[in-house]
Amino acid sequence: MADAKFDITDDHPIVAKGIKTAFGDNVVHENLDLEINKGEIVGVVGGSGTGKSVLLNTLLGLRKPDAGTVYIYGTPRGQLSEKERQALNNRVGVLFQGGALFSSLTVRENVMVPMREHSNLPVKLMRELADMKLHLVGLPPHAATLAPSDLSGGMRKRAGLARALALDPGLLFLDEPTAGLDPIGAAAFDQLILDLREALGLTVMMITHDLDSLYTICDRVAVLLDKRIAINDSLDKVTTDPNPWIQEYFGGPRSRAAAVAGNRGGLKESKK
Ligand SMILES: Nc1ncnc2c1ncn2[C@@H]1O[C@H](COP(=O)(O)OP(=O)(O)OP(=O)(O)O)[C@@H](O)[C@H]1O
Ligand SMILES: [Mg+2]
Repeated sequence: MADAKFDITDDHPIVAKGIKTAFGDNVVHENLDLEINKGEIVGVVGGSGTGKSVLLNTLLGLRKPDAGTVYIYGTPRGQLSEKERQALNNRVGVLFQGGALFSSLTVRENVMVPMREHSNLPVKLMRELADMKLHLVGLPPHAATLAPSDLSGGMRKRAGLARALALDPGLLFLDEPTAGLDPIGAAAFDQLILDLREALGLTVMMITHDLDSLYTICDRVAVLLDKRIAINDSLDKVTTDPNPWIQEYFGGPRSRAAAVAGNRGGLKESKK
């Protein structure tokens, strides 16, 4: 289905058009458009409370937009049968802000939750697949039987990522994945996302305030500003945008330091 402005095909796993979101009088999104290319890691930035997490919920279909349409792999979310919705959700993995692991389940059981919900696999096979995912994200074997509360913050993020990857999705949503990690842990997590993208051909939408992540692993940056995506482009283009908020965000000393680190043999270089 061609469109004059948007390419709604498999090459664009996410296309959102004319999204409006309002909570009573609080209009969070108005006429918001977003398009994400297949195989790219896109960072979404914006001030606190501008509606990044709400946008994620809308793209996931957990919240119906008050206007506009979300297409996932070319399929408009609003018109799906239950069966189609399930099939689509199997292609999407998500790591929510804060991780949201079930505290009463072991790490392995957490990774098995999506498999139990969406497949009829024998339990033994689900266990083996869960352990493979835990290995994939770099967790040691003994972590499988621990409770989430027994893991460090960085390990919890990895466990959440393993659960997001449980059903072999093509599209991965991450909400603040490196928040709360020390700089070494955050850099390792960034590298993991980059490695997984290379190995699994993932498309990744990552909400982040982490300037190092933006400079080292993101192909594009989408800025949520004034209720819409003001710009969705390479960092070179975004950082030269004259908008005062963008200039303040990317022109400060922290951003300059991240830019220097990113250009000095940053992770993004190594993937080419
Ligand atoms: N269920 C809800 N009911 C009413 N208002 C809500 C609801 N969920 C979110 N909001 C409002 O929507 C706005 C955007 O919230 P959101 O959590 O998306 O911000 P954010 O950009 O993710 O912020 P942060 O960077 O702090 O995570 C806020 O004003 C919030 O109060
Ligand atoms: Mg948020």
